[in-house]
Amino acid sequence: MAEPVADIALIGLAVMGQNIILNMNDHGFVVCAYNRTVEKVDRFLANEAKGTKIVGAHSVKEMISKLKKPRRVMMLVKAGSAVDAFIDQLVPHLEAGDIIIDGGNSEYLDTIRRCKALDEKKILFVGSGVSGGEDGARYGPSLMPGGSPAAWSHIKPIFQGIAAKVGSEPCCDWVGENGAGHYVKMVHNGIEYGDMQLICETYHIMKTVLNMSNDEISEVFAEWNKGELDSFLIEITTDIMKFRDTDGTHLLDKIRDAAGQKGTGKWTAISALDQGMPVTLIGESVFARCLSSLKDERVIASKQLAGPTVSFQGDRKAFLEDLKQALYASKIISYTQGFMLMREAAKQFKWNLNYGGIALMWRGGCIIRSVFLGKIKEAFDKNHNLTNLLLDDFFKQAIQRAQDGWRRVVASAVTNGVPAPCLSTALSFYDGYRLEKLPANLIQAQRDYFGAHTYELLSNPGEFHHTNWTGHGGQISSSSYNA
Ligand SMILES: *[C@@H]1O[C@H](CO)[C@@H](O)[C@H](O)[C@H]1NC(C)=O
Ligand SMILES: *[C@@H]1O[C@H](CO)[C@@H](O)[C@H](O)[C@H]1NC(C)=O
Ligand SMILES: *[C@@H]1O[C@H](CO)[C@@H](O)[C@H](O)[C@H]1NC(C)=O
Ligand SMILES: *[C@@H]1O[C@H](CO)[C@@H](O)[C@H](O)[C@H]1NC(C)=O
Repeated sequence: MAEPVADIALIGLAVMGQNIILNMNDHGFVVCAYNRTVEKVDRFLANEAKGTKIVGAHSVKEMISKLKKPRRVMMLVKAGSAVDAFIDQLVPHLEAGDIIIDGGNSEYLDTIRRCKALDEKKILFVGSGVSGGEDGARYGPSLMPGGSPAAWSHIKPIFQGIAAKVGSEPCCDWVGENGAGHYVKMVHNGIEYGDMQLICETYHIMKTVLNMSNDEISEVFAEWNKGELDSFLIEITTDIMKFRDTDGTHLLDKIRDAAGQKGTGKWTAISALDQGMPVTLIGESVFARCLSSLKDERVIASKQLAGPTVSFQGDRKAFLEDLKQALYASKIISYTQGFMLMREAAKQFKWNLNYGGIALMWRGGCIIRSVFLGKIKEAFDKNHNLTNLLLDDFFKQAIQRAQDGWRRVVASAVTNGVPAPCLSTALSFYDGYRLEKLPANLIQAQRDYFGAHTYELLSNPGEFHHTNWTGHGGQISSSSYNA
């Protein structure tokens, strides 16, 4: 059999896989490339990998024989049954202490299951979030590995070596046990949905309320990208806004306004509901995509349902500043909610998450990379026990500065009939979170009235009371029915 020359094997030679391999090679690691369609391996070796130290294999067995111990095998294959199928193929060739890494977009519950099953065979399993698209994979992705803790020291040099860097710090650290890495990647994607929708809402308001051209909007985004909103998504939006089709007109205006989705935003929203956490902004961003995709229905409705006439009287420059503040404040709310969700999930799954480390992993390399994440990292560095980002001094003051403009923007969107679900849910969340008293006393009274669900008194929490609200009715108790 072959000499064990390779530091790591990589299965799946689609673009992401190829680019990660080339990235690893650049950083001095010897990679063994494998793809189920073996011609793909030969083509890769003869073309993209020509002149490198990359080796190939034509079978799983050959691939394993080329690996140094403990063996490290990374899969970048389609999430779902393909991952289980490859694990089944690999296991007979592996021994205790060898490591399987799933770098695909797997659901964290699958990763928890796989981790447990492989643990029984003494094989270490890592589920790693990989973000940054094709370019990130090639020149520095954000990597979010979690799983069997014993695997970390064996993959750390490779992972931190190839990851994006902010200054000298790699955008990759150990996230936590079993499904933690894929969970954090899922929340990253959910936040990405929110960031994108927020940008779309500001674009819509500029276009509709201020009647700005795409080129003018592009200039505004370019300006915003120089300050606290400096981020990859604002940067690409600046380019997209001014991009011209071959006929010289703006391509953006020709693109059908029906958004697609692959599911990670939805999973985040589902997890938020499961955890009972008010992650309202990501939820709205998923629903906004759903509404957009009802294009045919909207075309019909647009001819029948009336709204207000758009009118803007005011200082345009001042309003644009308000809009920027609204976007910034809403973004703070979205990340606050995302970290609330991770904290709650960590409790359930017993993960010891390092929140500052997560902010740093997202600071560079990935789609939501931004200067802003550096501030989140600082907040958690200052106080490891920070329960809520809004309570950090920096963010408290940022929201304080932003909130008047934010309220004006949401009010203007409402009066002009421009939908702004994320900007406005963020504001509602803020107003709910900052209130000592919400109207839920009435909900409790209603529940007790019709279902005897009982309520607590402010003066004595923990003690449950039932009132005979009507003075008639039979012997109902809180267990009678659940409404
Ligand atoms: C093999 O390579 C193709 C790209 O040519 C990719 O689509 C596929 O997922 C790879 N499959 C596996 C499992 O190696
Ligand atoms: C919006 O801007 C366009 C292009 O500058 C102009 O032709 C149009 O009259 C404007 N519409 C309104 C309502 O101001
Ligand atoms: C954080 O909480 C832990 C455990 O509750 C405590 O031991 C530690 O002192 C706290 N640290 C800070 C900086 O408040
Ligand atoms: C509510 O009050 C009426 C009138 O006093 C009484 O007949 C009824 O049994 C009470 N119901 C309960 C659930 O206590």
